[in-house]
Amino acid sequence: MGNVQNQARLVAVVDPHPPERGSAAASAGVPWFADLEALLASELVVDVAVLCTPLPTHAPLTTTLLRAGIDVLLEKPPTTTLAEFTGLCTTETETGRLCQVGFQSLGSAALAAVEALVADGAIGEVRHIGAAGTWVRPTSYWRRARWAGRRALDGRPVVDGVCTNPLAHAVATALRLAGARRVEDLTNTEVELFRANDIEADDTSSLVLTSRTGLRIAAALTLCAPVSTDPWVALYGTSGLVRLHYTRDEVSLELAGRAPVVSRYDRTDLLANLLAARQRGEALLNPLADNGAFMAVLEAVRVAPDPTPIDPALISWQPAVGAGAVDVHPVVSGVTEAVHRVASTGTGFRAVKAPWA
Ligand SMILES: NC(=O)c1ccc[n+]([C@@H]2O[C@H](COP(=O)([O-])OP(=O)(O)OC[C@H]3O[C@@H](n4cnc5c(N)ncnc54)[C@H](O)[C@@H]3O)[C@@H](O)[C@H]2O)c1
Repeated sequence: MGNVQNQARLVAVVDPHPPERGSAAASAGVPWFADLEALLASELVVDVAVLCTPLPTHAPLTTTLLRAGIDVLLEKPPTTTLAEFTGLCTTETETGRLCQVGFQSLGSAALAAVEALVADGAIGEVRHIGAAGTWVRPTSYWRRARWAGRRALDGRPVVDGVCTNPLAHAVATALRLAGARRVEDLTNTEVELFRANDIEADDTSSLVLTSRTGLRIAAALTLCAPVSTDPWVALYGTSGLVRLHYTRDEVSLELAGRAPVVSRYDRTDLLANLLAARQRGEALLNPLADNGAFMAVLEAVRVAPDPTPIDPALISWQPAVGAGAVDVHPVVSGVTEAVHRVASTGTGFRAVKAPWA
């Protein structure tokens, strides 16, 4: 709520667990409800909900909120199946409410700057889009919640893999720059899922997607890098590339033989934008329906065979910096180089001969 202090007031917290002493929710001094039904049965008037709950709860809770006349800022990924997503889009239309999906990188003015550079011919013809994400996550990351690292739980899909949750912004940002918003904007989806951790879901994966216009998008994402670096999406052109570091709203124009030209941009908060849409009819920056292409990717990951375990001989376990003394994180041999090769060639891990693929 900090980003919209003068435009909205927190009126309630819903969570099965009461706010912890000293937390922002506790200091706000607002009523706490153990479930959404209890809030809706109260006399409180709620205009907007920020839904940041476990992935399998997204579809049912958002449906209930929209039907109760409440607009929703829904955390990513929107839902855990394409069918749920289609149903939620129908509910949004039927209720006339607003639902914005919290891919915060899509609120960045940097996206328009990238599009303007390409339209001006700064990198020639765009050949393909590459996305690279190399993060470190300790093993405790997968123990923080029952649903973490699961493909399904209690008979329901979860799809908590690297492409669909922690580094999902890379996928969503690449799709947006490719102009792929709806399910039908993608004509082909190839996924290669691997895992170094002892989890169900993927932690080191590549995606090669083809858009309706024939543009290829290759993303390589891992949580098993030696060090965490800021993820990026790059448009590779015939005379250079433009790289977007989407977590810092930074655009870098990289032409052969010249130093990169780096520019920083502002970002519109997606909750502020949702409020402006309610109050002044401003367009949503990431309306639910524009997440169809992302959901087509999530569906391909969901129905793909289980991730292939990476040969233990290629994994070293390093002490996790800043975590408890007993925590470690996996480092997959050659992963950073393979991720960058996928992004620059526009092909998957097998095609670039990643050591484990
Ligand atoms: N946009 C981002 O950068 C970003 C970053 C982190 C997490 N997220 C998203 O936030 C969401 C939550 O992730 P998390 O790791 O904090 O999950 P979590 O499992 O820690 O759950 C978050 C909270 O939801 C509560 N909760 C569980 N079931 C609930 C229910 N039925 N009703 C109300 N509250 C309920 C939990 O008690 C917890 O306090 C996910 O969608 C995740 O992808 C987004």
